[in-house]
Amino acid sequence: PLYQQMFGLSDLEERIRTRYGLKQVVIVPGDSETSRHTKRELGLAGCAVLRKHMEKDDVVAITGGTTLAQMANQLTTQTPLKGNWFVPARGGLGESMDYQANTLASTMAKRTGAQYRLLHVPDHLGEEAYTTLMQEPNVREIVDVIRSARIVVHGIGDAMVMARRRRLDATFIEALQAEGAHAEAFGYYFDRTGTVVHRMPTIGLRLEDIMATEVVIAIAGGSSKGEAIAAIMQFGHDDVLVTDEAAALEIAALL
Ligand code: BG6
Repeated sequence: PLYQQMFGLSDLEERIRTRYGLKQVVIVPGDSETSRHTKRELGLAGCAVLRKHMEKDDVVAITGGTTLAQMANQLTTQTPLKGNWFVPARGGLGESMDYQANTLASTMAKRTGAQYRLLHVPDHLGEEAYTTLMQEPNVREIVDVIRSARIVVHGIGDAMVMARRRRLDATFIEALQAEGAHAEAFGYYFDRTGTVVHRMPTIGLRLEDIMATEVVIAIAGGSSKGEAIAAIMQFGHDDVLVTDEAAALEIAALL
């Protein structure tokens, strides 16, 4: 790729890092949207970043998604992470089983000898159901574990792509569009400037929990996600961004 020959990816990493005040940016070569190999490399890069940050007894909350699935399927450790926990960041967001956060949390734990807890609760809840569920000691206990996470690893999606993938109804999608929803992460929808335009009440991690989390790692790539990634970076609560060259070039074009 031309950019790589001229400046190198490390220059691009540094430009994006300083622009958004991140601690680290990792860019893998290629476009994960068109190359399965690049998508795997993206997952692998995510694994390396996560391992570097994990400490004894950490709770790691993860979202779902096909990118996180690439991470889950490749996560390894040299010594079993006995005291560590993997938990889903939120309840079910209406995604296919293969890449639901619950599934991925248990895969990650099994592959590394860590422990996991699952949250068997749908994410779209009315006020009353929410209050009732939160009074269940079993639910309360797992929610407390999730909200104590020191590390969050999340994917980023285009708002419209995610709304459709979650089969949200047409009126809702129109409302999102009218509000300028551009990006989606951990169940929240953001506009171009990184302002939240829609939040779903959740049993899992809330926005304020994410804002207070010590280490937030975003992993997302592909040329069509550049703008969505930039929006989430504007939101400004990530510490590390793991992405690919195609998305990074899109992000750089917006700088
Ligand atoms: C979802 C997460 O499961 O995956 C979202 O809850 C994220 O936060 C999305 O935006 C990204 O999915 P993918 O398949 O593009 O990695």
